Amino acid sequence: MELELKNGDKIEIKSLMDISNANLVTGFINEVHAESKHLVKVRPIKAGNEQEWLKDKKNEISKGATVYLVALNKNRVIGSTSLICFKGRMAHVAELEVMIRKEYHNNGLGYSLVKEVLKRRTPQMERVMLYYFSGNKIARRIYNHLGFKEVAKMKGWFKADNGTYEDMINMELIS
Ligand SMILES: CC(C)(COP(=O)(O)OP(=O)(O)OC[C@H]1O[C@@H](n2cnc3c(N)ncnc32)[C@H](O)[C@@H]1OP(=O)(O)O)[C@@H](O)C(=O)NCCC(=O)NCCS
Repeated sequence: MELELKNGDKIEIKSLMDISNANLVTGFINEVHAESKHLVKVRPIKAGNEQEWLKDKKNEISKGATVYLVALNKNRVIGSTSLICFKGRMAHVAELEVMIRKEYHNNGLGYSLVKEVLKRRTPQMERVMLYYFSGNKIARRIYNHLGFKEVAKMKGWFKADNGTYEDMINMELIS
């Protein structure tokens, strides 16, 4: 699938299933992790674990427990989004994540990716939820536009490097 950003760049959206070079995605994750303070759960992938990471994710996708999309500009990953089911008795609940390289922010890519991943929700994903930190106003606007409603607030669960606190907000897709 292709889409055009507000800045005119033509972007390709692919499922992680169609990616064979793990480093293309793990490099992206590690770089965005380093430049963003607002990622809730994403962790860097250790050198040497890239292929295993990709294999695990593809396995979960093939079972319908994960949907994972990447946005590519000229074969460089610039954004990603995923729906990943919890395990066990919460396996019917999927958690949404989205991240975009800083240089591509405010071009409509985050919104378009989240909209697309929600369309590809699997039957296992009876409920869709997410977490974000309260200072992340742009993320909140995307989630509001697409039908998420706040269901819980954890006071001061986010602690920035400078020692200040933010709340962690839990939203669920209601529409
Ligand atoms: C949060 C993040 C994903 C936002 O991505 P982005 O690509 O910069 O955001 P977008 O440009 O898509 O959205 C910006 C705005 O345009 C809106 N928008 C964009 N395209 C739209 C469309 N076609 N129709 C309606 N609204 C649209 C968005 O809803 C949002 O609202 P606003 O217009 O009121 O400002 C990005 O800042 C990021 O990756 N941050 C670091 C990681 C992170 O924080 N992830 C979320 C953790 S929970």
